[in-house]
Amino acid sequence: MTRFARISGTGSSLPPQRLTNADMVVRLAARGVQTSDDWIVERTGIRARHFVSDGVFASDLAAEACRQALEASGTKASEIDLIIVATSTPDMVFPSTAAILQHKLGIAGCPVFDVQAVCSGFIYALTVADSLIRTGSASKALVVGAEVFSRLLDFTDRTTCVLFGDGAGAVVLEASDTPGILATDIHADGKHTGILCVPGHVSGGAVLGDPLLKMDGQAVFRLAVGVLEDTARAALAKAGKTEADVDWLIPHQANIRIMQSTAKKLKLPMDKVVVTVDQHGNTSAASIPLALDHAVRAGQVRKGDTVLLEGVGGGFTWGAVLLDF
Ligand code: ACO
Repeated sequence: MTRFARISGTGSSLPPQRLTNADMVVRLAARGVQTSDDWIVERTGIRARHFVSDGVFASDLAAEACRQALEASGTKASEIDLIIVATSTPDMVFPSTAAILQHKLGIAGCPVFDVQAVCSGFIYALTVADSLIRTGSASKALVVGAEVFSRLLDFTDRTTCVLFGDGAGAVVLEASDTPGILATDIHADGKHTGILCVPGHVSGGAVLGDPLLKMDGQAVFRLAVGVLEDTARAALAKAGKTEADVDWLIPHQANIRIMQSTAKKLKLPMDKVVVTVDQHGNTSAASIPLALDHAVRAGQVRKGDTVLLEGVGGGFTWGAVLLDF
């Protein structure tokens, strides 16, 4: 019998501190930097984002999202035999955030590791977990996207600091004799490193280079729109499906204009697109599972729906996962 991987539960977590665009105007003004609610909404669709407090890490947000996903799935933490965390904002240089998360969930023994593909991280992590489940190496996985991007932001750079937020999303992915994940498609091109990066690194007890986020927004925009269409079409083709089969598109939540443009290219109306960027900003690897969980809990995405997830991020990396929920 063919073995598939299927999502059996979703969860998410947002830190309590919520900053509206008006709050960001005040925060930036204190540093002599001007922005406005109108500019942010018109160019990005973002109205609010959540930031963690001091002492809260990606693993804390991940643990809460995982507890919700386990409960929704009816799975005990002790049944989990694989944890993959997608993050670019790990708690430590090492060990992995997945190892720290495993301990916070009160379990031990199963393999755990992080995936670093920036905003495509959850797509990469889901792809790896799907492969491990289909080949019989795992049966019940927690696949997580968790980020504290607020720690990487330069609050004197208005072109980037208004775009990002913190959060986590998780799914329980388990072996099933029916799909589940129908197709995956992942890519990268390392020549684009410079247009979106955090160039600093730790060396000899000091941070060398700039440890804050740098982005050429227009270059990212142009690249994102092209690759998101390509990877969506590739995933559909691999599954023998077309755009008409898609009930919900859940794109990486970076910018409403990128999402609108992708939906238009795929001839999908915006009422088939899950949008949370207005309330969460860009939470990088967390954005897709966060949006999925919100759509599930809002009664939008239902059991049996065909859902297309797609992401693009630093690297550059990009990819898509097509699944029956
Ligand atoms: N408030 C007010 N004005 C601003 C702000 C701000 N926060 N930021 C920039 N401006 C100004 C600029 O200084 C510029 O002013 P000037 O004309 O006087 O020089 C003007 O607005 C226009 O700036 P542009 O950069 O041309 O604005 P653009 O329309 O390209 O929008 C944006 C910028 C929103 C960053 C857009 O390029 C974008 O969304 N790019 C994609 C970014 C993205 O999605 N990144 C993440 C993807 S991958 C990942 O998630 C990690």
